[in-house]
Amino acid sequence: MAIRNIVKEGDDVLRKKCRDVVKFDDRLHTLLDDMAETMHQAEGVGLAAPQVGVIRRVVVIDIGDGVIELINPVIIKAEGEQTTPEGCLSMPGEYGLTKRPMFVTVKAQDRNGKVFEISGEGLLAKAFCHELDHLEGVLYKDIVIRMLAPEELE
Ligand code: NI
Repeated sequence: MAIRNIVKEGDDVLRKKCRDVVKFDDRLHTLLDDMAETMHQAEGVGLAAPQVGVIRRVVVIDIGDGVIELINPVIIKAEGEQTTPEGCLSMPGEYGLTKRPMFVTVKAQDRNGKVFEISGEGLLAKAFCHELDHLEGVLYKDIVIRMLAPEELE
């Protein structure tokens, strides 16, 4: 496994619409392992492939309950709402207030291509939305209600 460089806001790669994964091979597994290690080292709760310069529909999330790997994910259900601070490893040190659904169900493939569904609420639901947006070239700043000053994060 290896730590990969996290692309920062302003790099065009963050604005690309990502392509589907079609090969569930060793290269994908290495990417997933590297992304998880990179996310943990950066103390983030999620990371999308374009953030390490790969324009593929691959996401890792870990809100503290273990790594969730999502390949070719789509949101199939979203309910409720939450308005909370949101950040991004591509914009370190900045936070903004966003409105996201409170409950989200995602359909995706695992690292071997098997289709599964996973549901999350609160932080996990927010992470699903944030990371899946990355795959469309969308950043949270595109939907932010307002950015937050550091003293508002207490
Ligand atoms: Ni992000």
